[in-house]
Amino acid sequence: MDTVARVPRHVAIVMDGNGRWAKKRLMPRFFGHKQGVDALVRTVEACADRGIEYLTVFAFSSENWKRPTEEVSGLMSLVLVAVSKYLAKLAGEGVRIRIVGDRSQVSDKVRAAWDEAERTTAGNRRITLSVAFNYGGRWDIVQACQQAIAAGVPAHELDEAKLGSYMAMNFAPDPDLFIRTGGEVRISNFLLWQVAYSELVFSDCLWPEFGTVQLDAALADYASRDRRFGRVNSADVATEAGA
Ligand code: IPE
Ligand code: IPE
Ligand code: MG
Repeated sequence: MDTVARVPRHVAIVMDGNGRWAKKRLMPRFFGHKQGVDALVRTVEACADRGIEYLTVFAFSSENWKRPTEEVSGLMSLVLVAVSKYLAKLAGEGVRIRIVGDRSQVSDKVRAAWDEAERTTAGNRRITLSVAFNYGGRWDIVQACQQAIAAGVPAHELDEAKLGSYMAMNFAPDPDLFIRTGGEVRISNFLLWQVAYSELVFSDCLWPEFGTVQLDAALADYASRDRRFGRVNSADVATEAGA
C-alpha cells in the first residue's frame, strides 16, 4: 500500500457521548453538547492539517426528535450559537460547509443559519465539512429513490451509481474511515449506504474529550488495515503466482 492511501480521503464521525460527559461532571446535558461543538471545530482543523479532504459528522439524527423537548430545542439553539461563533473562523481556514439531512422539518432560523454557512463557504476547497443534521441513512435511501422516480428514471436504468447520484452525499467519495466515540458499537442510522466498505473504529472516548491524540490513534488503526473490497490480498496473489 502506498503512503497516500494510508491517509483517508473521507472520515465520518458519530460524535457520541456528550450527555455522559456532562453527567460525569454533574452538569446538564446541554453543557456536553456545547463542549461538543468545540471538539468539532478542533477536529475539523486537525483533519485539514492531516490532508483529509472530507469530514462528515453526525450532529442530529432523524431519531433524536424523540429526546425531551428541552434537549431538542437546546440543540437547535446551539446551531445558531455555533454558526455565529465559528462560521467566520472556519471560512477563513478554507473549510467548505455542507449540510446533509431533511431541512424541511427544521425551523426557519436554523435553516437560515445552515444556508448562510453553506453560502459563505461555497468557494472553499481545503476540506469539506458535512454536518448530518436531521439525517438518517434510511431517510437518505428513501429520498434518493423518490428523486429518481420523480425524474422518471426507468427501473432497468436504476443501478448503484445512478441511485448514488441522488443520495445526500453525492458530492463526496464514500467514507474510508468511520469513527464512533462514546463506547457504543453501532451505526445508529448514520450513512448506511455509504459505509459499505468503510473501516470502522469505535472509541470509548466521550466526544467532548476527542482531540488529536484520539484522531491520530484512529488514523494509525486505519493505516494498518488491509482493505480488500472483496478481492484477495495482492501479496497472496503474488505468492501463489510465484509458487
Ligand atoms: C451525541 O451525544 C450528540 C447527539 C446525539 C446530539 P449524546 O447526547 O447522545 O450523548 P450520550 O450518548 O447521551 O452520552
Ligand atoms: C447517534 O447518537 C446520533 C448522533 C451522534 C447525532 P445517539 O446517541 O442518538 O445514538 P443511540 O440512540 O445511542 O443509538
Ligand atoms: Mg448518545
